[in-house]
Amino acid sequence: MAKKTIGVGVVSLGWMGRLHARSYRSVSERFPELGVEARLVAAADPIEEVQRAAVEDLGFERAYADYHELLADPEIDVVSICSPNFLHAEIALAAIEAGKPFWIEKPMGVSAEQARTVAQAAEKAGRSPPSASTTATPPPSSTCASSCAPASSAASPTCACGSSPTTTPPPWGP
Ligand SMILES: NC(=O)c1ccc[n+]([C@@H]2O[C@H](COP(=O)([O-])OP(=O)(O)OC[C@H]3O[C@@H](n4cnc5c(N)ncnc54)[C@H](O)[C@@H]3O)[C@@H](O)[C@H]2O)c1
Repeated sequence: MAKKTIGVGVVSLGWMGRLHARSYRSVSERFPELGVEARLVAAADPIEEVQRAAVEDLGFERAYADYHELLADPEIDVVSICSPNFLHAEIALAAIEAGKPFWIEKPMGVSAEQARTVAQAAEKAGRSPPSASTTATPPPSSTCASSCAPASSAASPTCACGSSPTTTPPPWGP
């Protein structure tokens, strides 16, 4: 059966953006039951060398300097937002405006107010509030749950892997 192709755009190709790109490339092999394959349509990053590497090394079909161009690209079905924290809310709201479903890296904003604004705008547009963190969603947390024994008391729970799933996170920086 022919696989459904999903056009992917990745905003910002730093450490995390490159990880997202590599992960999308492995979707078809890791999750054959989904019957989908990701097509790396475009990346957006203001650094020229990063744009070059996106196309020549990572396999994106094109690269933009401005994320607005990526969001306007009709061949892109879904977007990963992997930019610096201070841009998350701005880009997420622009993605909602453009009608593109997105995955956003943690945090959704640099304040609770920003995160709330993004979540509410996503819900208003009929989308689930976007997931944000590999430390809060599978597979790392499920791996953690199944493989790590609590390393300390219930009053201060930590896992052997070092995560502390029930503690309050510190405020986010820019
Ligand atoms: N989920 C996790 O476990 C995890 C781990 C590490 C980082 N992160 C998150 O990922 C995000 C990115 O972190 P990183 O370590 O990849 O950062 P990085 O510094 O490696 O990369 C940031 C990239 O953003 C680009 N950029 C800057 N301004 C831009 C703009 N206006 N438009 C588009 N791109 C722009 C930069 O050129 C750079 O390539 C952060 O929000 C961070 O919190 C999540």
